[in-house]
Amino acid sequence: MFVSFRRIHKCRCVQLLTTGLFLYAMIVYWEELDHHIVSHIKAYTHRYLINSYEFLNSSFTIASNHDHMKGGSHSLVGRIWNYSYLINHPGKCGEDGKFRENVLLLLFVKSSPENFEQRQVIRDTWGNESFIWSELGASVKVVFALGIHPDVRRRYRVQLALLQEDQTFGDLIQQNFLDTFHNLTAKLVLQFHWVHDYCPQARFFMSADDDIFVHLPNLVKYLRQLVRSKSGAKNLWVGHVHRGSPPVRQKHSKYHVPYDLYPWPSYPDYTAGAGYVLSSDVAAKIYHATLVLNPSIYIDDVFMGICAKTMGVSPQEHVYFSGEAKAPYHPCIYDHMITSHGHATDMSSLWEAATDPTVYSSYRGYIGNLYCKAVRAMLLCLPHYQNTYSCLAAFV
Ligand SMILES: *[C@@H]1O[C@H](CO)[C@@H](O)[C@H](O)[C@H]1NC(C)=O
Ligand SMILES: *[C@@H]1O[C@H](CO)[C@@H](O)[C@H](O)[C@H]1NC(C)=O
Ligand SMILES: *[C@@H]1O[C@H](CO)[C@@H](O)[C@H](O)[C@H]1NC(C)=O
Ligand SMILES: *[C@@H]1O[C@H](CO)[C@@H](O)[C@H](O)[C@H]1NC(C)=O
Repeated sequence: MFVSFRRIHKCRCVQLLTTGLFLYAMIVYWEELDHHIVSHIKAYTHRYLINSYEFLNSSFTIASNHDHMKGGSHSLVGRIWNYSYLINHPGKCGEDGKFRENVLLLLFVKSSPENFEQRQVIRDTWGNESFIWSELGASVKVVFALGIHPDVRRRYRVQLALLQEDQTFGDLIQQNFLDTFHNLTAKLVLQFHWVHDYCPQARFFMSADDDIFVHLPNLVKYLRQLVRSKSGAKNLWVGHVHRGSPPVRQKHSKYHVPYDLYPWPSYPDYTAGAGYVLSSDVAAKIYHATLVLNPSIYIDDVFMGICAKTMGVSPQEHVYFSGEAKAPYHPCIYDHMITSHGHATDMSSLWEAATDPTVYSSYRGYIGNLYCKAVRAMLLCLPHYQNTYSCLAAFV
């Protein structure tokens, strides 16, 4: 009798303790959870029901410049940011006197001064212009966008190394701003200004992080299909689209945006900055938007979304452009993938595997197709710890 009483007592204790712990966890995390859920609901409501983001035009346009702009003379007002070039290659796109090369794609890789290795891996793999020219017959130009090293003590040495690197490869574009996370919008503006000034004839423009893999043969194929299609290579902005994203209000987050910078509950749609493609007409529109909009939002892909919205351009989703996602390593994926995020040393092996001409041959035909659909469904639709392409991508 006594023993069983004690046992009950012990059980109670454990029960009480777990309940207590659970409640404690709820109290500690509820605020975060609540914030997350509520901000998403608000953002979606805002995005889909209430607002068409008309406020962006009036809130972000820099008024005094606007009147000048209407006069059509950009040089009068200058640019909001006009950092000088420290390294530049005005002739990269073949702008040499009268000759203008027929460029299919200008690809800007957002790099940082000290990321020497990442740039080298890209040059050796998907960024090899002569490979793309000889194997695919496509003129693709790959350049790297950089600022200056933020640490004054290391800047000089890093800069010397950059100059040397550029002597060898001739593909760095550097402007005189600090290369920091909060200056990413300056890097975005650099890209659009460079395209406008030195490579306006490129039919497509791509912006990419330096830790992504781009399956250039698939991308070139896709772009050529677009050029041949009825609608043509116009009005295109394609990537992994974020729709109705709420601004992050938690102060400790890297992406924190305070209310006074952006008071509304959701951002206009934008493509993940990891990698997206524009047609030249859209790139020109974004350039014009950067001349009149206040670049105070330091998240570059959000600022891009604001520029696009005010110019009346909407992004399109492509299931094989990854956001943060990393593609599964499988031949049934290689046939379709365009970009994959989060690569470093594995870039070379992926490039070799994904561009091996024999890689698809055993997956052709009716049976091969069916098999690949099943494999893709397994790889993409089952729950995974790793973030990959969405399940929809299994069925294209
Ligand atoms: C912003 O202004 C541009 C040009 O004045 C216009 O084409 C566009 O529709 C406007 N955008 C919004 C969201 O009102
Ligand atoms: C940018 O600055 C350079 C000199 O620093 C000047 O020559 C150029 O005209 C400026 N461009 C614009 C569009 O303001
Ligand atoms: C780039 O491709 C060309 C042509 O296929 C090849 O000869 C060259 O070795 C490649 N360069 C690098 C750095 O891999
Ligand atoms: C961006 O670069 C400019 C020019 O170098 C610098 O003055 C500014 O402090 C930088 N901003 C940030 C947030 O790093």
